[in-house]
Amino acid sequence: MIEACSAFGTNFSRKGGKLHWCGVNLEDLARRYGTPLYVYASDEVRCRIRILKNAFGAIPRFHLMYAVKANNNVEILKLIASEGVRFDCANLNEAALAMKVGAPYMLSGIFYTREELEAALRLKATVNLDDPAAWDLVKELLSEGAPRPKRLFIRLNPGWGRGAFSLILGGEGSKFGMKPDDARIVAREIGDMGIEFGVHAMVGSGIFDPSHFVRLASFLLDFALDVGAVAIDFGGGFGVPYKPDETELDVRAIGDGIASLPNIEKVEVYAEPGRYILASAGVLLCKICSIKRTDPPIVGLDGGMNVLMRPALYKAYHEIVNVTRPMSDLTPTTIVGRICESTDEFGRNRPFPSASEAGDIVAILHAGAYGYVMSSNYNSTAKPAEVMIEKGSVRLIRPREEPMCDTAKSFL
Ligand code: LLP
Repeated sequence: MIEACSAFGTNFSRKGGKLHWCGVNLEDLARRYGTPLYVYASDEVRCRIRILKNAFGAIPRFHLMYAVKANNNVEILKLIASEGVRFDCANLNEAALAMKVGAPYMLSGIFYTREELEAALRLKATVNLDDPAAWDLVKELLSEGAPRPKRLFIRLNPGWGRGAFSLILGGEGSKFGMKPDDARIVAREIGDMGIEFGVHAMVGSGIFDPSHFVRLASFLLDFALDVGAVAIDFGGGFGVPYKPDETELDVRAIGDGIASLPNIEKVEVYAEPGRYILASAGVLLCKICSIKRTDPPIVGLDGGMNVLMRPALYKAYHEIVNVTRPMSDLTPTTIVGRICESTDEFGRNRPFPSASEAGDIVAILHAGAYGYVMSSNYNSTAKPAEVMIEKGSVRLIRPREEPMCDTAKSFL
């Protein structure tokens, strides 16, 4: 049985024809804070973490990490850290955020520079070594007197991978991880130096098949026992239903599958999802600037690929709702942003209220992960504001960038 958070259901309600989320009128929010606006629900974040902890509860020595790359707002990070979740960090900037909120973290980068590794060792970070060259650099630094790490991880490419869009991070030609044969050599050398280590792999994002994760954990476990590793980390990549007809990933099947692997109690087990925790915890509010009465009509929003890049980059689907109008008389509609690119499109032929008008507020759902973090200043635009709903009240957690730059101000 999958516990339901809001996804497409419980936390959304319509009162007086207006869409509410977690009890808050989204249109009022947009008018108060302006648009585009990212809105997060703290209860949803906590709920998703709880689901994962329950699902993996049967794995003897399980620890949950959160992939900071999915959403790096400091207030969100504080919330996640307060749930006892550790962090997976892609670089030292993310590691600094982990330190700021007091969360233990792993540094899981790629193509590290010597300076980064030197700093990571000084910080006593657990570094995930993505290739043998990174280990060579660590050895060099240790021989020059850098502090010995308590623990390292080795990132493997098991030779296979799968995922949504092009998010396949393992297999032939992937830039991530090292071949098992290389990893074996690195493992032996690390072990010989008396440093404990774990093995890691992440081979895809947006995956809905529980057996994928069990297979990966099983592969890592066999490898770990063979080379003397003390921990396995089977990455993130848990799929999230963005479309109303998609169903939730059965995370309990993953947990139970991994818990039943023989000898699993011999290692610590880590997972590091990002999307699963944050996607449904955020919506993006935009305003309709105007509507081209073409066939189909084209609705132009005040935020586009600069604010939420996933549709333009991956043709990713996000549900789009007019929060101002009741959901009646829907007509196929194209919904776009204001960026000078034809890929700046949120959706084609989407059922959208034909009575929509300029000034209406539109919500783009499941925008909590890989939304703000992938936004840009493209077309010299300003990044949006972020607010968080906590127990029915709302607070600004990142201010909007100044919409007009100083140069523009000096002329206008
Ligand atoms: N750990 C590592 C080492 C990763 O590379 C990633 C994501 C994660 C954890 C978290 O994966 P998740 O659970 O969120 O799937 N920009 C794309 C997603 C790219 C994911 C890359 N790595 C998107 O918007 O869908």
